[in-house]
Amino acid sequence: MLKVAIFASGTGSNFENIADDQTLKDRGLKIEILVCDRPKAAVIEKAKRREIPTFIIQPKDFENRNYYEQAIIKELVNYQIDFILLAGYIRVITTTLLDEYPMKIINIHPALLPLFPGIHGIEDAYNAGVTETGVTIHYIDEGVDTGPIIAQQKVPVLAHETLKQLEVKIHYIEHQLYPSVILNLLNK
Ligand code: GAR
Repeated sequence: MLKVAIFASGTGSNFENIADDQTLKDRGLKIEILVCDRPKAAVIEKAKRREIPTFIIQPKDFENRNYYEQAIIKELVNYQIDFILLAGYIRVITTTLLDEYPMKIINIHPALLPLFPGIHGIEDAYNAGVTETGVTIHYIDEGVDTGPIIAQQKVPVLAHETLKQLEVKIHYIEHQLYPSVILNLLNK
């Protein structure tokens, strides 16, 4: 069994997609907890509906990032978490958490890293006029969307495609790629 925490800040479509993946469940993936830094994020309701405990925690309630992440670690240790999946978590992870979970934190990003890091990966690629973009899954380090790449999938950007259409395509790919990478981790 692999006990994971998912960190998310927003809509939670990746959270939902992973949580409902029966193959992952059958192979031993157990989402023990959702860690969320935004009390009004839609992902919280998605966790509630699936009876997955949510730990809501905000940096503003702590003196610094170190104390914030130490409080998260305390919670993760309670749940005996083996691995962390970031799914739209908008904060940079610091060494406090990285040292506790070395090479055990992965992230999904909606562009072909190292191109278009940050929180507007799809839009930035679209506005740059690229003819292809994609999705990246990578280990986390202290940078913004940096760290060793595990998997990438390319997506063509078609002429006359709208940003909305591209977003739909990217999310579709995300919902295929993240579970397949997690499945590989479970097989290791
Ligand atoms: C996803 O597109 C994910 O790739 C992106 O946030 C979105 C979350 O969507 N992550 C980043 O941009 C990381 N820099 P979701 O809440 O519906 O899963």
